Amino acid sequence: MSNESHSADHTPPTRPVTGLTNQSWGGRFDAPTDAFVAEFTASVGFDQRLYAEDIAGSIAHATMLTASGILLEAECAEIVAGLNAIQADCDAGTFRWSVALEDVHMNIESALVARIGAVGKKLHTARSRNDQVATDIRLYLRTQIDQLCVQIDRLLGGLVDLAEREAATVMPGFTHLQAAQPITFGHHMLAWFEMIYRDRDRLRDTRRRLNVLPLGAGALAGTSFPIQRELTARLLGFDSVAENSLDAVSDRDFAIEFCAAGALLMVHFSRIAEELVLWNSQQFSFVDLADAFCTGSSMMPQKKNPDVPELVRGKSGRVVGHLMSLITLMKGQPLAYNKDNQEDKEPLFDTVDTLRACLRAFGDLIPSLEVNRARMREAAENGFTNATDFADYLVRQGIPFRDAHSIVGAAVRLAIEKKCRLAALSIDEFKVLHPAITDGVYTILDIEQVVAARDHLGGTAPRQVRAACARARERLRQRQPA
Ligand code: ARG
Repeated sequence: MSNESHSADHTPPTRPVTGLTNQSWGGRFDAPTDAFVAEFTASVGFDQRLYAEDIAGSIAHATMLTASGILLEAECAEIVAGLNAIQADCDAGTFRWSVALEDVHMNIESALVARIGAVGKKLHTARSRNDQVATDIRLYLRTQIDQLCVQIDRLLGGLVDLAEREAATVMPGFTHLQAAQPITFGHHMLAWFEMIYRDRDRLRDTRRRLNVLPLGAGALAGTSFPIQRELTARLLGFDSVAENSLDAVSDRDFAIEFCAAGALLMVHFSRIAEELVLWNSQQFSFVDLADAFCTGSSMMPQKKNPDVPELVRGKSGRVVGHLMSLITLMKGQPLAYNKDNQEDKEPLFDTVDTLRACLRAFGDLIPSLEVNRARMREAAENGFTNATDFADYLVRQGIPFRDAHSIVGAAVRLAIEKKCRLAALSIDEFKVLHPAITDGVYTILDIEQVVAARDHLGGTAPRQVRAACARARERLRQRQPA
């Protein structure tokens, strides 16, 4: 690793540059790169994933250079043909990636020169790997966000279908994981819908801010060539051109935003996963996860484990971790580009992969969910979830709410003693609690009625859930195309 001569003198190399010294920048070096350092600094092992974006960016750049009189038409044609051939090799998996060539950019450029000769060396005019990689990542994320949104839409559609099917299915709603008030299962599914819908919005929002062209920023200060950045932007489908060259090559806030949106989505997924795991337990038995989403135990023959939601819940940790990696990576970096930024890719790529896999898993799982209506209803009936409505009834009979609250508390105590539901108390027992209680109380205590009474926008009444489903479908129809 000791290479003192690197910084010592400015005399041209006296011996040929050999070994692992990168051809693209080896001119300034006397000695080859240390083998470990070559490995340590290389990113090709992971950034080769960006080849399609890199090639698209290069084709647009060459086209712009030609339109600006910097390359000849014939040169551009050769470069574009060469890049297309390289793309075909990469697509076919036959491209030979070399660690000695450090990254995806230099691998492709070197292959281009090998393929079309000296003309290939002109491609990098008015460009640096710094603006090149910033462009590649933005192009990549743009595509990924579009594809993730397609997956999200599928999941959202599945949630609305399920909500509509179970619009009138009564279940206990929980606070503190204690049965609180009855709700409908459809209403619960629509809560999940809203969470994921906002995640989709956040991804769209990230896409809007990242769709800005860095190319032309050069290494940091721009270029002395008469380039036309608007043209490159148009060719690559960017909405605008980055205003400041230093910022364009150095910031990765768009990647952080993406990971933040992804982390929130995964946090939402972990909550959904947790509920699925609970509901699928023998103790709850609210839902049945299809066999396809579960596995057995090698020891305990009775087990059917909810592995898929458990793994989704677990994977939320890595995406939150990637967000922490990226945000810490950026912290304290001076302008402009620093090699630190090469560390942006692995967290980003793994975030994309994890989101895709989890969206696939939930997108498949939700439509296959079997809902145990009888069991949920029983849990709602047994949990005194109609106690609030009883108190509200007493208020309507003219009793102040605080008094009503304590009367209902006494009724619950009595029902617990008798091991029965509130509605199973006799009218005489009710009258002892308060003389204003009449037969009408039994209608109020009916769980169906309790749910139906929440009949306003955002409420859990089946009628409202169906209306909310219709609005949700309309929102999905009106969404921006992916
Ligand atoms: N592989 C590098 C990265 O991912 C590309 C940019 C390298 N630029 C540089 N000046 N070394 O960030």
